[in-house]
Amino acid sequence: MNLIKRDLNHNWHPCMQMKDFETFPPLSIKSAEGSYLTLTNGQKLIDANSSWWCKSLGHGHPKLKSALLKQAEQFEHVMFGNTTNETIIALSEKLAELSPNLNKVFYASEGSCAVEIALKMSLHANYLQGQSHRTKFMALKNGYHGETCLALSASDLGLYRKAYESILQPVSFIDHIPYVLSTEDPLWEDCSTHWPKIEEHLNQHSKTLSAIILEPIVQGAGNMKIYSKDFLIRLRQWTTENHIHLIADEIMTGFGRTGYALACEHATIEPDFICLGKGLTAGWLPMSAVLTSQNIYDIFYDDYATHKAFLHSHTHSGNALAAAIALECFKITEEENIYASVQKNSEYLYKNMQQVAEKTRLLQNVRYIGFIAAADLMIEVPRAGYEIYKNAIPLGAFLRPLGNTIYWLPPLNTSLSTLDELTDITIRAIQKTCL
Ligand SMILES: Cc1ncc(COP(=O)(O)O)c(C=O)c1O
Repeated sequence: MNLIKRDLNHNWHPCMQMKDFETFPPLSIKSAEGSYLTLTNGQKLIDANSSWWCKSLGHGHPKLKSALLKQAEQFEHVMFGNTTNETIIALSEKLAELSPNLNKVFYASEGSCAVEIALKMSLHANYLQGQSHRTKFMALKNGYHGETCLALSASDLGLYRKAYESILQPVSFIDHIPYVLSTEDPLWEDCSTHWPKIEEHLNQHSKTLSAIILEPIVQGAGNMKIYSKDFLIRLRQWTTENHIHLIADEIMTGFGRTGYALACEHATIEPDFICLGKGLTAGWLPMSAVLTSQNIYDIFYDDYATHKAFLHSHTHSGNALAAAIALECFKITEEENIYASVQKNSEYLYKNMQQVAEKTRLLQNVRYIGFIAAADLMIEVPRAGYEIYKNAIPLGAFLRPLGNTIYWLPPLNTSLSTLDELTDITIRAIQKTCL
């Protein structure tokens, strides 16, 4: 039986309307290397979205393969509850270096689980400190934090939430976000024009909030929108003054995507919790982590009989194979100077997206930061993003626009010639779809 028929007999693909496969079947992957995928029909495609934003170091990095095999020769997974090992300790030592005071690491598997953990830790810490009235969360309008129920409650993308509203937690969303197109925008440095309205909203909730969660600097699923670093600075200041935790969901932005290890570094702020995922293992294995401070950790630290322990677990928490890869990712990032190369090539990516806008005359709001460039289609084409995706495949790119937003988020070590190829394909795919 043909491969696609066998797939559709059983597989229910994530985030897909399965009926779409009647007319455009799933891409059948044979292999992947660097920034390219190879299909079983031999066609090569540029992975322009780094496979849902996780393949930061590209596909099949030989050093990551060796690290995986080396760990597999020792052991692949032993429950992390009562045990430890050299690999996970070395990884936590590296993670603890990311932010000056966040030296405690709690592991999970998917990004959404890390978000759940950070939110639960915040609530639990307040509960243990006699702050039981602090039960609410706040997030940003247009933000996204994952699909599990607490993470979805903090996400403001109607399409993903609607059917589940009845079981989601009430979360208040911050509006009037000072969006920018680049770090050159005056709002980037100073968002005082927007702040009074935001602060008024914040003040209404100051006594009941446990935490504010946000994607620092870039809202990924909310169409790659970039906001002012000054907004982040002011939010950190306000949360500190009001004894409210700040949770930075760096699942998409972490490990170099915006040019620094953490997007929080743009604002030189330190949150109370950082959620990491995706790039943590460069998309090799599911691993996520929450970083927090000694202060938060100490709130839970007591004799067993006090029942203060954080009794949250996932089977694969601290998985050794994933840990070995994550540790190697740190090495490769240093050896290949990944953050410096993102900073160097960021403008090149942007100029290429500008070229797409100029050649097609169909894009507006061209924006960029680090190794992300995006722009919005100016004309209404039904399901424009999906049509562009389909048209880009025969041309040689796996583009996956978000609604009317065209974006590139390629592996951080993608060559400039591949970016040029991607530019040409994007222009042709847009023209084919819209003209
Ligand atoms: C900012 C952010 N948070 C959380 C998640 C959820 O991560 P996962 O899909 O690994 O559960 C995502 C996924 O795209 C994300 O972009």
